[in-house]
Amino acid sequence: MKRAIVTRGEKETENLGRFWGEQLFPGAVLLLAGELGSGKTVFARGVGLGLGVGAPITSPTFTLLNVHRGRLPFYHFDLYRLAAEEELWELGVEEYLYGEGVCLVEWADRFPCFFDLPAARVSFRREGPAARRITFTSDDARYQEIIGALNPGS
Ligand SMILES: Nc1ncnc2c1ncn2[C@@H]1O[C@H](COP(=O)(O)OP(=O)(O)O)[C@@H](O)[C@H]1O
Ligand SMILES: [Mg+2]
Repeated sequence: MKRAIVTRGEKETENLGRFWGEQLFPGAVLLLAGELGSGKTVFARGVGLGLGVGAPITSPTFTLLNVHRGRLPFYHFDLYRLAAEEELWELGVEEYLYGEGVCLVEWADRFPCFFDLPAARVSFRREGPAARRITFTSDDARYQEIIGALNPGS
């Protein structure tokens, strides 16, 4: 299943993320792809809001992982500076991916370990200064239900 939504402005992308945050279930995984500045962290901030995370959500570029407490634990990865996939195992990524929280991974498309994982894949593309095309795909019914409920004007 595949669905694309164009957002016009940061707030629309945040709201889209918030909707996901409200719908996500324990063990959910969101794999994000798209160039720098395409809106991945803005979307992640929305997911955090939807999960009821109180603390501000910024990019964990230098830490690889930020852990937040919300309705469910929220594990926000940013792999931009990750050189080797092995570092992910040192970080204990499996425990997060197969845990009870929600994992969101920026730059997941760079690392083969995510390729076959049941997940929702979200890709971001700039279509101008304030427009972003955000494409959702999943083979898994649990995510397809959420994708099907997305409101184009959200
Ligand atoms: N429609 C939009 N959705 C998301 N961000 C947008 C949009 N339009 C403009 N922006 C801007 O693009 C930038 C996206 O940054 P960020 O989310 O950190 O990107 P990434 O995490 O993909 O590197 C922000 O400066 C944001 O204000
Ligand atoms: Mg980012």
